[in-house]
Amino acid sequence: MPRGFFLTFEGLDGSGKSTQLRKLHEWLVRSGEDVVTTRQPGGTQLGDRIRSLLLDSRRTSLDPRAELGLMFSDRAQVIAEVIRPALDRGAIVLCDRYTDSTEAYQGAGRELGSARVLALHHELCGLDPDLTLLLLPDFDASLARARHRNQSAVAVTGKDENRFESLDTAFFRRVYDQYRAIAQREPLRVVAIEGDAGVEAVHRRILSIVEERLNQHRAS
Ligand code: TYD
Repeated sequence: MPRGFFLTFEGLDGSGKSTQLRKLHEWLVRSGEDVVTTRQPGGTQLGDRIRSLLLDSRRTSLDPRAELGLMFSDRAQVIAEVIRPALDRGAIVLCDRYTDSTEAYQGAGRELGSARVLALHHELCGLDPDLTLLLLPDFDASLARARHRNQSAVAVTGKDENRFESLDTAFFRRVYDQYRAIAQREPLRVVAIEGDAGVEAVHRRILSIVEERLNQHRAS
């Protein structure tokens, strides 16, 4: 049975991840690849409803464990509805955030612990990415970008998705440090792209990593 290639993007809010994912998607489509892009939370009808529960900043009383459960409900649905079928037909799947986000944000940020997150991942997902691109620009610059975006977004889009972006610096420092720990723990799966070389330079770096990994995957 053909088995596609599963690639996830990770990083702090404001790391430039979504821009890089879009550019990679466009490049793969131009190269004639069958490519499916999705995101978490979201990516299915159920997921979009879960997303609005999770990100609405008026929902201040959401318990961290309830938040963790919703992240995995969303993920189980997108795996069943989008990711597995695409991989089974041999497509390349690009996913904006996956379980590393939960380990970083709920495990470290909300201090629920990695072990609990990884146990749920094992029980409910059972699917690991072939490659994870972790964007790690300078911590202060990412945070400043996320906060700036946060202030203008509600006015421009009318969408309130600020529940995470308005959290304090110590929360994001824990998230950032956990991302680094994951990259150290799993150096084969996770490639960290550090620093802020600019959108085009980071895009070229990503292309060379993806081309190499795709060739290896297809030759194996
Ligand atoms: P996203 O829309 O990807 O935001 P951005 O474009 O800034 O990357 O994600 C929304 C927020 O959800 C983001 O602040 C991280 C958070 N999140 C978690 O806390 N845990 C998770 O498992 C996921 C997937 C996202």
